[in-house]
Amino acid sequence: MQESEPLSHKLEGRVVIITGGASGIGEATARLFAVHGARMIVIADIQDDLGKKVAESIGKDKCNYMHCDVRKDGEVKALVDFTVQNYGTLDVMFSNAGVLSSSPQTVLDLDFAGLDRLFAINVRGMAACVKYAARAMVEKGVRGSIVCTASVSASRGDKYSTDYHMSKHAVLGLVRAASTQLGANGIRVNCVSPYGVATPALCKTLGMEMDEVEKTCEVHPPLKGLVLKTNHVADAVLFLASKDSEFVNGHDLVVDGGLLSKML
Ligand SMILES: NC(=O)c1ccc[n+]([C@@H]2O[C@H](COP(=O)([O-])OP(=O)(O)OC[C@H]3O[C@@H](n4cnc5c(N)ncnc54)[C@H](O)[C@@H]3O)[C@@H](O)[C@H]2O)c1
Repeated sequence: MQESEPLSHKLEGRVVIITGGASGIGEATARLFAVHGARMIVIADIQDDLGKKVAESIGKDKCNYMHCDVRKDGEVKALVDFTVQNYGTLDVMFSNAGVLSSSPQTVLDLDFAGLDRLFAINVRGMAACVKYAARAMVEKGVRGSIVCTASVSASRGDKYSTDYHMSKHAVLGLVRAASTQLGANGIRVNCVSPYGVATPALCKTLGMEMDEVEKTCEVHPPLKGLVLKTNHVADAVLFLASKDSEFVNGHDLVVDGGLLSKML
């Protein structure tokens, strides 16, 4: 065995959906899930060309791309139906698609049109993914795992990005409610909460290149010598998606190098 190969295939035979899988955290997770033996990974996104390229680079035999705008419940339902009809089941939903604030607004100049646009993806879209994935799992009697992407912004406030903080607090509320309800069906619902990680979304928001973003983010967590990368977040998602976290339900797995603890 080569050094880079994993010791175990933690998702052997599993059928997975990853929303926002064309880029950033979603893409890194799709690649890690493939290494860990997932039978089929369906990447769902609105960046069709990019999503198809990512799926092709992972391999047509284990990864497929489907257009799905999470703002449209019908498209989310169609994504789940397609997956179950073509691959027999749905074991893992990684509901990750999300956007950052379009302006650094405080509550004093909160833009409600912008807030509605952001909530349509980060809150309503997230809820639609949890709803339709859970329905499919209940129907098939699957003890599945649903993982949402929240953020450290789900547990704190900041000087700006009011709408984003509100939306990620809502994701945490969704995870807590859904995990309580779906536990009766053996379905687990958890979330990962990354600190700032250099992805296309954050680079665009800050108007910086990847390395500049990493330098900016590096100084805050009390963990010296490491910069948060998408693969660190993917590792946390893999844990929550796999049997390694069999008894973990309703949990917010913070991936922040200890930043939130430092702030308490
Ligand atoms: N990058 C960070 O610092 C950071 C920190 C904490 C949480 N997050 C969260 O991580 C998640 C992934 O973000 P990322 O940083 O990897 O950004 P990204 O832009 O690289 O990836 C997000 C993906 O979501 C897709 N998407 C956007 N709107 C969509 C829609 N309506 N329907 C379907 N797909 C849609 C985008 O096309 C993109 O491919 C988001 O939920 C974000 O809020 C990011």
